Amino acid sequence: MSSHLVAPHGGTLVNRVDPSAKDTKADAVITLTDRQQCDFEMIAIGAMSPLTGFMGSADYNSVCDGMKLANGTAWPIPITCAVDSATADGIKVGANVQLNDDQGRLLGFLTVEEKYPHDKKKQALSVFKTEEDAHPGVKVLMSEGDVCLAGPIKAVTPRHEGEFPDHNLTPAQTRAAFEKKGWKTVVAFQTRNPIHRAHEYLTKCAQEICDGLLVHPLVGQTQPGDIPADVRMKCYQVLLEKYYHPDHTLLSVLPAAMRYAGPREAILHAILRQNYGCSHFIVGRDHAGVGSYYGTYDAQQIFDDIPEGGLKIVPLKFEHAAWSKTAGGMVSGKTFPKIEGDQIFLSGTKVREMLSKGERPPVEFTRPEVADILIESMKS
Ligand code: ADX
Repeated sequence: MSSHLVAPHGGTLVNRVDPSAKDTKADAVITLTDRQQCDFEMIAIGAMSPLTGFMGSADYNSVCDGMKLANGTAWPIPITCAVDSATADGIKVGANVQLNDDQGRLLGFLTVEEKYPHDKKKQALSVFKTEEDAHPGVKVLMSEGDVCLAGPIKAVTPRHEGEFPDHNLTPAQTRAAFEKKGWKTVVAFQTRNPIHRAHEYLTKCAQEICDGLLVHPLVGQTQPGDIPADVRMKCYQVLLEKYYHPDHTLLSVLPAAMRYAGPREAILHAILRQNYGCSHFIVGRDHAGVGSYYGTYDAQQIFDDIPEGGLKIVPLKFEHAAWSKTAGGMVSGKTFPKIEGDQIFLSGTKVREMLSKGERPPVEFTRPEVADILIESMKS
């Protein structure tokens, strides 16, 4: 059956899940880091199509230098399996390496086609635009090994399989779900936070022009201090139940690691969603940003640097949104002029402070049902 949905990035949806590979003979065993485990799962289930494994040096350098794979396909962030030098010395090119998670559970296998130096400084400067250890993405990168192992993977068990069982669809499964619902255009919403009123506004504006909305929270590795995925899932569920149209909304998780790479990560987030079958992708203010490392709209502008046709998914760009007392509703810089003191704006720190004291933020900022779940979670 031909699909009306957007084609996967690079043309073919990858599937590297093969439970029968469990008895494969391994030459070595390594434990993947949290980030690597997330990437492994994303590759395995096809969310990172056209990647079939961890990148080799030609792709690595091409991605760092020019935001594309060696064959010219757009790609913004290296996807690597770095290990320390001593471990790398014990692994020969051609080896079949067993990959475990930090509990010693078998995840799958990597066939090593190449070993190459992990140029962390170059990667930090090209991807994150900074080498500062205070940047959470740089910090994770700098803690990684000095040698990258590259080659195709096979997954026996993707890592998050079984978590959030009612809301954990692979790209093939979201595509099937969209087809079943008769959606041809689907807008994806990436988030690592509970959905506040500004987020809700973006999703509903986008929903007006697409058949469906995929609320697609990232539930892989985040930084300490971010709200845990299980708490956020409760918030999304209660919000969707009460304030969204069930025929036009789907909630499912993205088991990816957050990099906080701002603009380059916005491109990656869009590519992943194209693979999940989405035609449109919401990019708001300071998408995937952290601190003041990136300009407010850098993550929108970077889409102009991708050559025509490089991405099939279309970014929907939103200006900073907030509740206006004068307008009596949500507005953005595009829909209502700025008036001093008119908008309800609360910093993340202020919101956390209120919630930890058991206070609900104003209803114009967060729905009370969401606030209550967050207040409850802070008690424990
Ligand atoms: S992110 O790391 O996933 O980008 P967050 O969950 O806060 O962080 O944001 C989800 C999406 O909503 C991003 O596209 C972000 O740019 C957008 N966004 C968040 N808050 C606002 C806001 N007040 N106005 C406009 N866009 C916003």
